[in-house]
Amino acid sequence: MKVLGIETSCDETAAAVVADGTKILSSVVSSQIEVHRPYGGVVPELASRKHLEAIVPVVDEAISRSGVALKQIDAIAVTRGPGLIGALLIGFSFAKAYAFALDLPLTGVNHLAGHIHSVFLEPDPPPFPFVALLASGGHTNVYHVISHTELELMGQTRDDAAGEAFDKVAKMLGLGYPGGGVIDRLSKEGDPDKIIFPRAYLDKSGFDFSFSGLKTSVNRYIQTHEDEYQNQIPDIVAGFREAVVDVLSYKIINAAIKKGCRHIAIVGGVAANKRLREKVRQDAEEKKIKVHIPCFHLCGDNAAMIAAAGYHYLTNGGVSDMNTDVYSRVL
Ligand code: KG4
Ligand code: ZN
Repeated sequence: MKVLGIETSCDETAAAVVADGTKILSSVVSSQIEVHRPYGGVVPELASRKHLEAIVPVVDEAISRSGVALKQIDAIAVTRGPGLIGALLIGFSFAKAYAFALDLPLTGVNHLAGHIHSVFLEPDPPPFPFVALLASGGHTNVYHVISHTELELMGQTRDDAAGEAFDKVAKMLGLGYPGGGVIDRLSKEGDPDKIIFPRAYLDKSGFDFSFSGLKTSVNRYIQTHEDEYQNQIPDIVAGFREAVVDVLSYKIINAAIKKGCRHIAIVGGVAANKRLREKVRQDAEEKKIKVHIPCFHLCGDNAAMIAAAGYHYLTNGGVSDMNTDVYSRVL
């Protein structure tokens, strides 16, 4: 089954064609980062306008690159939420119209389930059940993944998402937006043990997170070292990154142990973090747990993961009708 996936929940207009939920035939991502960069974050109204401009060329390109004729597409999967309402509506309305015009089944996909499905686009995906850490700009969630359509939420952040903490710390240090990639690169030049920031494990046996205290702690360091912090930026970001990574790795390994799972998936934009990828692999090896992390371009928002999740919704009878609507927060 060839599914056309469409994703417009935040600041990426994306379309992809995926066969049987596993094989990417094409994946096109048009990023709006340059539009939002001057504002230091995503401006919802600008995001909607940019999606409107990009949606038709991005879908056309995904279809033409896939080598699949339009009439060979079997279904359409589109992100339904969570995300920015105006942004979601562009992709969702487009997908409804396209499905109606082509007389194709349509399914609305949860963006978070989409991220989890990014690991099924890689060779050797995890067997069920497994645990997954979804760390992005909007979410830090731990799931027990029971099947393609059953996710049990084990824990989540109580305040900032991990990616949001990277973005806010980068902003404090004048490193620009988004912050994850630049902090990751600069950390290589710093010493993570020079400035130790607090790790918020909360209840050590639980799976909730908190990153706002860590962010405040970095801010306090900057304020109390006003004259010298500019020369210590690599050490500050390396210390900050290590504090985030320690907690993320600890919690996901413990989640696997608690559920008796031998497989872990790390997904979402923060899964691109080099130190996180390394640390989880090291910690998991000791416990004989296998780690699945998608390649870099499948960590951030893309439509191939939406098509992959959509394939399983469709094969389980999850067809949306023309009255289905988008949602901004998890239903
Ligand atoms: O999944 P994603 O592309 O969009 C959302 O659904 O939010 O995640 C974007 C987030 C941003 O906060 C960005 O700073 C973070 O992922 N990110 C990273 C890295 N690359 C992107 N965080 C840490 N290290 C990275 N290398
Ligand atoms: Zn995302």
